[in-house]
Amino acid sequence: MKFIHLTDPHLVPRGCRLYGLDPNERLRAAIADINAHHRDAEFVLITGDLAHHGEAAAYNALRQALDVLAVPWHLLIGNHDDRAVFKAMFPEVPVDEHGFMQTVIESSAGPFVLLDTHDAGTHEGRLCSSRLGWLDRTLTSLRGQDVFLAMHHPPLMLNLPAMDHLGLAGRDDLAGLLERHRNIRHIFFGHVHRPVHGAWQGVPFSTQRALNHQVALHFDEQPRDCIPGSHEPPAYAVALISDGSVVIHVHDLLDCGPRFNLFDPAAEKAERIPPSSAAVAPRSMQIPGARQTGQRRRL
Ligand SMILES: [Fe+2]
Repeated sequence: MKFIHLTDPHLVPRGCRLYGLDPNERLRAAIADINAHHRDAEFVLITGDLAHHGEAAAYNALRQALDVLAVPWHLLIGNHDDRAVFKAMFPEVPVDEHGFMQTVIESSAGPFVLLDTHDAGTHEGRLCSSRLGWLDRTLTSLRGQDVFLAMHHPPLMLNLPAMDHLGLAGRDDLAGLLERHRNIRHIFFGHVHRPVHGAWQGVPFSTQRALNHQVALHFDEQPRDCIPGSHEPPAYAVALISDGSVVIHVHDLLDCGPRFNLFDPAAEKAERIPPSSAAVAPRSMQIPGARQTGQRRRL
């Protein structure tokens, strides 16, 4: 089973830029790339921060972008989202009995439980007693099956001080719940804008770079009013799941560098390898009239 994990597009109204980049063009480039290479994926999962300011125009841009995605999609909300505005723009997205954007999606690899960690008015995440109660009942109903969890906020401290203080509040309650339900195979999350992989409570987890801006790698304390940003390249993950394995490939979707055969003696001795036509940017990113080979448009 294959699915695509994409996170934190931070959309703004079309035509606007964010931190010097165009989030809508980035999302459209990702969708063009997925349509070109991963039409066999069961779905695309976007783990939150869909809109940077949570405004209707940004969600409308998201709707327009998803309209051309050839693969089914599922959405989570993050701290930058506005639950009410999102619900109004995406009324088909399921909610639990308390109105949280939580649901279970079926896949050929097992159920995916999508959690809503949005907590209005703060960048921290929260799983309140209502949401944890829903999760407890849901996991009980899925006993005996392999279950995958997805949420926006990381459920653990990542040793990234600038982001850890904006993590999931009350994570111990979630840890206790996972201690009782031992059938979670993997946790997918966003929020961090960095590639991070490991295990928590014995459960593997993964996240990757966002689609627009990134968080620079700093292990030292930062002032509370500073999150170090960067323009490291955007990525999405291709997750391949079978009975015996969960394999995650991270794809830098805008990389237009050379492609070559490692067994080619000429390539091995080359002083410089020119960009390859195989690395031409997706059609949606090409500059009309320009020579496209290896040419990268600033997005
Ligand atoms: Fe984000």
